[in-house]
Formats: sequence, structure tokens, C-alpha cells
Amino acid sequence: MSGTRTFTMLKPDSVESGNIGNIIQMITDAGFSIKAMKLTQLSVSQAQEFYAVHAERPFYGELVNYMTSGPIVAAILEKENAVTDFRTLIGSTDPAEAAEGTIRKKYAESKGRNAVHGSDSDENAEIECNFHFGVAELV
Ligand code: RTP
Ligand code: MG
Repeated sequence: MSGTRTFTMLKPDSVESGNIGNIIQMITDAGFSIKAMKLTQLSVSQAQEFYAVHAERPFYGELVNYMTSGPIVAAILEKENAVTDFRTLIGSTDPAEAAEGTIRKKYAESKGRNAVHGSDSDENAEIECNFHFGVAELV
């Protein structure tokens, strides 16, 4: 059975372009409830660790620069089938391939600057929630 929690970040481009409110509205309209949320900024070492799975990829340096370029909103979201349903809501990595009505179709600038992160498995969702939030921060 799939889990009920996923982790998201509204990436620096979303915060910079004033789209925090619009994106949170889409998330709650889709039936997710917010269990924890904060505005924060990733250090280089945090971004490197968070995206360590991509360390050998050619876009890794650019990704770390982008993710540390300004504030992000980190949040824990709850819903049945959270990971899968949230990946559907955000759309494909490249906004040019993202379906109509998805967050990335609406707000992402490019494959690199693509507005939001969503966990890709229940296991990673748990790791990522713990990476950003302590037990005391959960309601
Ligand atoms: P995310 O982890 O941020 O939710 O994105 P994702 O699963 O849809 O995509 P993933 O393959 O995990 O890639 C992580 C992030 O790296 C940047 N990227 N840039 N320029 C490129 O070709 C490229 N490919 C990936 C994106 O910011 C992507 O979300
Ligand atoms: Mg990913």
C-alpha cells in the first residue's frame, strides 16, 4: 500500500516570481493537507546532499546553483497515495512535456528551473521530510 505523505519544495523561481500563493492554492485544491511548511534557503552542502543521486549528471552543478540561489518553501503534504498523486499534479520534469493543468505546465520556466519538487517514492518522501523537518515541527 502506498503512503500518505510526500515532501515538496517550491523552488527559488516560484518564490522569486511571487507564485507561492498560487501554487499552494493548487496543492490544497487537489486535496493535499499541509502538515509542515517553512520558508528557508538551502546551503550548498544541503542542496548537494538533497540531490546527491544526480551527482554524476552534467546538470548537477547548475542544479545546486539554482537550488541555492534564493529562498524556497519546504512542506510536508498529506493525502492518500500522496507521492503518486503529487507527481501527477506537478507534471513532467520538462514543462514543455507537462500536461495541461499541472503546476509545472503553468509555472515552470524550463526543465532546469521547474518550479516545484516532489518526492519520487515513499522511501524518499520519508528521507526528505526528515531532512527538512524535525518531529517537533509536525502538527
Ligand atoms: P525533482 O526531483 O526536483 O522533483 O524533479 P524530477 O524528479 O522531476 O526530476 P529529476 O530527474 O529528479 O531531476 C531533478 C532536478 O534536476 C533539474 N534537471 N535539470 N537541465 C536538465 O537537463 C535537467 N534535468 C533535471 C530539474 O530542476 C529537476 O527537477
Ligand atoms: Mg526527482
